[in-house]
Amino acid sequence: MPLVPENFLMSIRKTEHLDWKLFFYEEFANIFTDHSDQINEDILNQINPLIENLTKNFRTQMVFRSVPFLVGFYFDKKEIRFYTPKLSQELFLLQQSDILDLNIAQVKDLRIHAEMAASLQIKNFPTVIEDLIKVEGLPDLLKDAKYQAIELRSAEIVKKLLGFLNEYRPTLFEDVSDFGLGLTAQYALLRIHLLKFLAILPSLDHDKDGREVKRILVEALFRFLKDNKKARLAKKRGQERAMPRTYTLGIKFIYLIAKLLPAWPLAKSVRSAVKIMAKRFIAGESIEKADRSLRALFDTKRDVTLDQLGELVVSEKEADHYKDEVLKLVRGFSLHVTKGEQNVAGINRAHVSIKVSALCSDFKPQALDYTYNLVGPRLKEILLSAKEEDVFINIDAEHYHYRDVVFKIYRRVLMETPELFDYKATGIVVQAYLRDGAKHLNDIIELAKDRKLPMPVRLVKGAYWDAETVEGDAHSFNAPQFLNKEETDIHFRQLILKILEAHPHLKLALASHNFSDHGFAEAAKELLYPEVGEIEHQCLHMTYEALSTALAKMGWATRNYVPVGSLLVGMAYLVRRIMENSSQVGVLTIMRSHKKHLTLQSPYAIHLEKKSEGKIVRDQSVSKLEDEFFNVAPLRLYLDSERQWMEKALT
Ligand code: 2OP
Repeated sequence: MPLVPENFLMSIRKTEHLDWKLFFYEEFANIFTDHSDQINEDILNQINPLIENLTKNFRTQMVFRSVPFLVGFYFDKKEIRFYTPKLSQELFLLQQSDILDLNIAQVKDLRIHAEMAASLQIKNFPTVIEDLIKVEGLPDLLKDAKYQAIELRSAEIVKKLLGFLNEYRPTLFEDVSDFGLGLTAQYALLRIHLLKFLAILPSLDHDKDGREVKRILVEALFRFLKDNKKARLAKKRGQERAMPRTYTLGIKFIYLIAKLLPAWPLAKSVRSAVKIMAKRFIAGESIEKADRSLRALFDTKRDVTLDQLGELVVSEKEADHYKDEVLKLVRGFSLHVTKGEQNVAGINRAHVSIKVSALCSDFKPQALDYTYNLVGPRLKEILLSAKEEDVFINIDAEHYHYRDVVFKIYRRVLMETPELFDYKATGIVVQAYLRDGAKHLNDIIELAKDRKLPMPVRLVKGAYWDAETVEGDAHSFNAPQFLNKEETDIHFRQLILKILEAHPHLKLALASHNFSDHGFAEAAKELLYPEVGEIEHQCLHMTYEALSTALAKMGWATRNYVPVGSLLVGMAYLVRRIMENSSQVGVLTIMRSHKKHLTLQSPYAIHLEKKSEGKIVRDQSVSKLEDEFFNVAPLRLYLDSERQWMEKALT
């Protein structure tokens, strides 16, 4: 076989659509055009919204019929050009064109074609949030003056809220653990080694004499010290920098003690220390043991949603166990709250949050029916029991690849179980850090309309950001979430408006640790949607107590998210909280470092400034063009849009 096949250099075909010209490679012609050389309708549905609503040249990665492409939109020439992801084949061929002895005219064409994409000014590309404003019609908080009145009113509300917030006096335990969280926020090395150790610890419960715990602790400390020294020698800066000498000495001391102490007492004290740390965020091992935390919350006019820890189940027996524990929470509420009692927002005081993926051990997002058969019966049992006890069930959000299937299963159980047709006390979470959050919200509005019952939606920013980002980068698909924190913040407010506007189908339950968001929602309700009734405000247990108590003092319906369960099953939760609390761009870290002057720069201003300075973080699929080999992004089979064409091809 010849090393270079005849048709190696892709020949470019040109087709017209309206007054636009489309350029793609001959071998992909069957994706873009039909037999009579017309552009396929699904392709037009994907590109039309972009050419109709945007105006400046840019490139982006898009998936057409299950195949990813880099696409250049040239508004000045009215051309759309399709390339291989990251321009990799084009760059490779052009680099090798001498060696490969290719046809000169074709090389010239390819060079012009590729250079057009490569020479675009990335600084001018629309940002993801700008794209959503134009293409999806989300409220233009960046520019539309209409929203300024909300900001002004919000500032007044926040002023009052801050008055209450500053009254809060943390306990010594909070101060000490805040200090620890502050350290993990400042030093990535410390955070990484700590989280790695924490992730392993629960799986060492079998280690009765503590030898494994000792070995792993000593290794973690050793590695930390080694990496820390490297960071010092390399004069690393920012997050990667070495810890100051005093702290390093402290850790060296702990390392020596850990080496010297016999395994058993060492393991015992390490386990107790971690349990104490976990107590910061986890209320107790069971609803009975959480009693004190619950009482303290009720006494300060706050309600709870209980979360049974243990989302990572590995056998059907464990899935049954998770379901049974949830049922215990549902039935146990009657000890704490009068049956059917509601808060001022008209939502049940008795409230449980569940993770649907924990209702089976083999959750396969790409196989809806299979997963439904495992999860559906358990979910139905929980909802029926909750109806009987008059307890609210909230469906939590998890990883992006579960989202759509979780929603489909939830929808199906609600729509196909006659006993649940009039069950009002249930709702679901929407994560604003997802770029397609508004689409998900539309599906929920649809469900509420079909059920003819109002549905509370807990709007959050999202707790799986790091995991999703790492995965997106590793596979080089566009991240499902925003890469710039302020885009999430803007989107969060857009979705607040969208939920309020969806009254009476939806009710807003707002969970942000950023007090300006809570002020924004109250101001928007007051000025634009006075008919919607009270908003519910939510906080995570012991994450920002000052805010949670202040929300209640405002007289607003306030609810804390309170996890119960053992440390072993709660580790994933604890890890998420430590990540959240040590996020450099997260409001919690900001609050800890500027306690005195509580003002936050508006996300709109940050975004516009970053854009003008060319500092917007973009998807690597757009920003990084490379001729090196890399794996083409795998299909995301959990997305209907990416799976359906492959399914069609298979059948
Ligand atoms: C989590 O489990 C609170 O549902 C959120 O991280």
